[in-house]
Amino acid sequence: MNVRHDFPIAAPEVLIRHGGVPYVRFLSHAARVAEAERYLEIGTNSGRSLAAVSCSAVAIDPQFRLSFQVADGKDLCLLYRMTSDAYFRRFDPRDALGGPIDLAFLDGMHRFEFLLRDFMHVEKVMRRNGVVFLHDCLPPTADMTARRFVGSNHPEFTGFWTGDVWKTADILRRFRPDLRMTFLDCPPTGLVMITDLDPESTVLTDRYSEIVSEAARIDDEEAALGAFIRSTEIMPSTPLLAEEELQLLIRP
Ligand SMILES: C[S@@+](CC[C@H](N)C(=O)[O-])C[C@H]1O[C@@H](n2cnc3c(N)ncnc32)[C@H](O)[C@@H]1O
Repeated sequence: MNVRHDFPIAAPEVLIRHGGVPYVRFLSHAARVAEAERYLEIGTNSGRSLAAVSCSAVAIDPQFRLSFQVADGKDLCLLYRMTSDAYFRRFDPRDALGGPIDLAFLDGMHRFEFLLRDFMHVEKVMRRNGVVFLHDCLPPTADMTARRFVGSNHPEFTGFWTGDVWKTADILRRFRPDLRMTFLDCPPTGLVMITDLDPESTVLTDRYSEIVSEAARIDDEEAALGAFIRSTEIMPSTPLLAEEELQLLIRP
């Protein structure tokens, strides 16, 4: 896809600093609070996030580089070495895990249309009151949001790359107002927690081409990202370490 966006930016402005609970710790906490029995992860890399959740799991990544004991504490830990699109063409994680997914973490390809498809595929296999987390949707600087793998120049965030998946959060907020989206200040690049899922919804599938072409036409990416961050209410994650506080969001 041809999207105008060419960084580096010489002196990137810091749009936001996340001072809450580091994202892997929050994910692990949420899995316990949600009493998740079936976990789905897209994008595993070293296995840091997969190792932090200790229930049966399906993990998908075309290039695992495991350095964590990802199977520890799990009855079942299935690794699929392929892209998420290829996985969903061939498999349904409910078959392998014995029921709908309770918790999902989407952290695969960092381009907005990939994350959008990941969400569309995953929502269909989720428990209605399950929880989906999106990673990297609240980037601290614009220069980490290029579509090709270019890390930030900023001294605080050197080398960080989120790609342009922030657009997916923006798209979901606009096209799926029925979802409950909680934007969390989890360092380094934010977490979006999505509840009130509707596995039967066809809005995104029906409008996929229109949504993607509109987002690909954004002229001034930096201005659009700034507007997105400014218009987003970000919830402090630290108080949600109290189980009952997070329970209220997960199971209102
Ligand atoms: C940022 S890393 C994941 C980090 C991990 N979730 C963690 O928190 O430690 C992103 C991973 O996504 C994988 N990836 C890239 N394209 C993908 C795709 N199309 N489908 C699934 N995974 C993909 C990469 O191989 C990489 O290992």
